This record gives sequence, C-alpha cells and structure tokens, in this order.
Amino acid sequence: MNNNQIDTEVILKFLDFLKEGVIVVDENQNIEYMNAYAKDILKNDIKGIDPLGKHFSEVIKNNYLYSIISYKNKRDFKEEITINDDIFLIRMYHINNKKVLHFQDITLFEIYKQAKKDFVSNVSHELKTPIAVMKGIVETLEQEEDVQTIRKFLNMAKKRIDQMDSLINDLLILAKLESKEEKLNITKADLSRIVNSIFNDLEHLSKEKNIKLINDIPEGFLIDVDQKKFDILLKNLIENAIKYNKPEGSVTVSAERKDGEILINVTDTGIGIPKESQPLIFERFYRVDKSRSRNVGGTGLGLSIVKHIAEAHNGKVEVKSEPNVGSTFTVRIPERRDG
Ligand SMILES: Nc1ncnc2c1ncn2[C@@H]1O[C@H](COP(=O)(O)OP(=O)(O)O)[C@@H](O)[C@H]1O
Ligand SMILES: [Mg+2]
Repeated sequence: MNNNQIDTEVILKFLDFLKEGVIVVDENQNIEYMNAYAKDILKNDIKGIDPLGKHFSEVIKNNYLYSIISYKNKRDFKEEITINDDIFLIRMYHINNKKVLHFQDITLFEIYKQAKKDFVSNVSHELKTPIAVMKGIVETLEQEEDVQTIRKFLNMAKKRIDQMDSLINDLLILAKLESKEEKLNITKADLSRIVNSIFNDLEHLSKEKNIKLINDIPEGFLIDVDQKKFDILLKNLIENAIKYNKPEGSVTVSAERKDGEILINVTDTGIGIPKESQPLIFERFYRVDKSRSRNVGGTGLGLSIVKHIAEAHNGKVEVKSEPNVGSTFTVRIPERRDG
C-alpha cells in the first residue's frame, strides 16, 4: 500500500467504535453500509436481518427517514427526530452518487437545555415576586405619614429583602457546588459540636414554636467531612425540621456507624411529606405547598443543596415520612473517604 492510500479496514473499524450512527445508501436506495451504532439505534426495525444490500424501505420501517433518503433535492440536510424516546440530530450528505445519513444522539443535550430554561424562568419568577411586593410598599410609603404604618411597611420590605438575599446566597452555593474546580476540604470534625452550634444559630426559630432541639450524638463522634459544606447540609435539614414542625414538637439529630457507613438522622414530629412528593423534594424549587413555604420563608433550593453536598462526599440523602406524624432525613456517607 502506498502512502497516499487509506486503509479502509481501519476506517470501517473506527466507524464501529463511533457513538454516532452512519448509514450509506446507493443511488437505488439500497443499504450499502451501516455502522454498529446505527444498527443499535434502529434495532427494532432490523431484528436479526442483515440490512446490507437490502432496499432501505424493506429494512427500516421509519417513513420519515425513508422520505429523507428519497428526497430528490441534492442539498445536504439537517433535522431533529425522535426514535424510541431518544432525540437525534440527523444529517444527510450527498457524496458522489451516494447518500450518507448521520445520526447524533442529542437527548442529554436537549434535557440539559430544557433544565436550564426551567431554571432561569424559576429564578426570574422567584425574584420578581418580592420585587413586585417591594415596589408596592415603596409606592405606599411615598403617600404615608403615620410613623407606625411606615415602620410596619419597612418591616415587610425587610422580609422581602431577606428572602432575595437567601435566594442569591443559595444560588451561589449551588453554582459553587456545580463548578468542577470546587474541591472538598476534608478534615476530622466532631459531629456533636457541629450540631450544637447549628442548634444555637437556629434557636430564634425553634423558640417561636416552642420546639425542643435534641442532640443525640455523643461527644467525640468524629467524621471526615468538608466542615463548611457539611454545616450547610445539616443546617438546611435542621431548619426544615423546625420550619415544618408543629408547635411544641421536637427535632432529634442522631448518628450511627453501620456497615462502613455513617448515618446521620434528622427526625422531626412535623407535618410530614405526602408519598407522591417525596421523590420530588430534592429538585430545585420544588415545594409541597407553595403558599405555606412562602409563609415560613425559604428558597426551595435547600434540599437540592443538601443532595449535592451529600453526593460530593460520595454519599446520599434519603427521606422517610408520614403526613401528620413527621419525617426523618438520613444522610449516609462512607466511613472512610475514597482517595
Ligand atoms: N422536615 C420536613 N417536613 C415536611 N416537609 C419538608 C421537610 N423538609 C422539606 N420539606 C418539604 O420539601 C420542600 C423543599 O425543601 P427545601 O428544598 O428545603 O425548600 P424550602 O426553602 O421550601 O424549605 C419544602 O418546601 C417542604 O414542602
Ligand atoms: Mg429548606
């Protein structure tokens, strides 16, 4: 073989490794070539028959693909289509007398695009509401002279500002967690102490409803975690356990070592979470009861932050809950961190 010649065997083998589908059809619409991925995409059509040499319409029962292939126009072509729930970008090229169909799986990309759109519209919505309220407050204040009333309105404005402040804070935490550069800074931490200090920070909240905070973790229970992040995780769980509790209820934090894992439980005696909502509460902005959540404050991002931090520690978070009885959130992390 001289230097200018291409080894077609290499090219063909390479095409079978490719995670994109390639089909070559001759001028009579007979299939001349199909790589492994194309066969996989169209496996429901092919079902054990050897497609090579057969007419396209005989093998592939997809009318739309057939219409692309039989298109008389010589222009190259690009279109999105769905095959068995996956989304593909299909391109057709005219090369010599042949037509080459190329399939690129863009399902994940489309899901990502949609998630990004939803996220942006959620954030805008969450910011618009407090801004609209504050605009109303400012307009009222312009006309108002009574000092008591002015104080009352300023107080309302302050609440909305706090709400936006928490939202931006949580968004920044999420953005940081999602950026790949962010590494964990693992050190040994005394879990009981962390919990006590969070209880202290949240005392004002628990006092409002006379909720008892119980730390069941023995002193000296050491865990390997990124302390700053684990603080955020536990604070979110404990804050929820207080916010969604009943008056005179209790919040208990406990921990155990089991089968190479550390399990940390935050248990409350609150309103609980309906079964159908349980898988959704870790999604950004999901709230079981939007109007109630607005009253108790919160951004709807807390549990997705919790999930992120647990996963960053190679762990996970689970929930068990019964409406009107209470909930237990359990964080599991491996006892000794990998690597
Ligand atoms: N301990 C709990 N008891 C009952 N419901 C809870 C509890 N924790 C979370 N939830 C529900 O899950 C939703 C999402 O929680 P989270 O992400 O922390 O957002 P939020 O800012 O609303 O607290 C809450 O709005 C609430 O409906
Ligand atoms: Mg919360």
